Amino acid sequence: MTTDLDQLNAQFAIPDRITFKAGAGDLPLAEIITDDGTRATVSLHGAHVLTYQPAGQAPVLWLSEHSRFEAGQAIRGGIPVIWPWFGPHPTDPTLPAHGLARTRLWQVLNTTVLFEDTFQLRLGLTNDTQTQVLWPHPFALEVVVTVGQMLAVELIAHNRAEVAVTCGAALHSYFTLSDIADVAVTGLEETAYLDKVDGGRRKMQAGPITFSQETDRIYLDTIADCLIVDPGLHRQIRVAKSGSHSTVVWNPWVEKSRRMADFGDGEYRTMVCVETTNAADDVVTVPPGGTHQLTTLILAEPLPAGES
Ligand code: BG6
Repeated sequence: MTTDLDQLNAQFAIPDRITFKAGAGDLPLAEIITDDGTRATVSLHGAHVLTYQPAGQAPVLWLSEHSRFEAGQAIRGGIPVIWPWFGPHPTDPTLPAHGLARTRLWQVLNTTVLFEDTFQLRLGLTNDTQTQVLWPHPFALEVVVTVGQMLAVELIAHNRAEVAVTCGAALHSYFTLSDIADVAVTGLEETAYLDKVDGGRRKMQAGPITFSQETDRIYLDTIADCLIVDPGLHRQIRVAKSGSHSTVVWNPWVEKSRRMADFGDGEYRTMVCVETTNAADDVVTVPPGGTHQLTTLILAEPLPAGES
């Protein structure tokens, strides 16, 4: 196992298609370019998809211009991998928000050419003395990133403990928008949610989600696809999922983005998070030797005729 770029390229590069490079902050990343010119980058720091841009389209994923790129720090944007707890730790507020996976250096396990101009990168993370301090159970995680006409990210969590272990998780996707004021998220109509900007009150979604203030909601008991409908970019982004019965929708709006050092003051206008989660009561108990898989599929589509 190595993060030396020469060794990574010797072992895992696919000529002209998958290359390992030094990214911002010298963090190693994989650059994937398909035959039709679709491009993606995946940082080994956090197994974090940073960018995904189908040929001829605006970037699908949003990445802050103010993100930190440093060992031990979370990257702001792309698809952070959240595990083994979502949000604050359930019992110990001194532990880092959103778990340990997004701030660790992952190993490359393999690269593969799939069918029809589609490429796959598999990364792994196992427990060590540092993770032990944050999470006392042995584990093996894999993240499988598939890049082609659509982007798929799978988080596969193997429980190597001798006891059942309960985990939260998320594929915390940030999406690029034309303007948050003009965008709607559909798919969660008539769905109950916990409103984190109103003391966690349980409410019911009426109609599509639109944005005019800080929005931080855990939608409950939903396996629905979401569509991020963006007339300004003449597209809709479909977010489909499995292994998840909750979906988080987040935009920090003005005040919260000002409080975040790694988030530009006006950047909230061009992003929204629609996250495939195991959040709130949707945590997953994995038996000894068992596995849980969380998957998100992301597809940018032209708007149906008459909607652009
Ligand atoms: C969202 C949470 O998933 O992530 C928000 O619902 C949180 O409450 C946001 O602010 C960003 O979290 P972090 O730890 O990356 O700043």
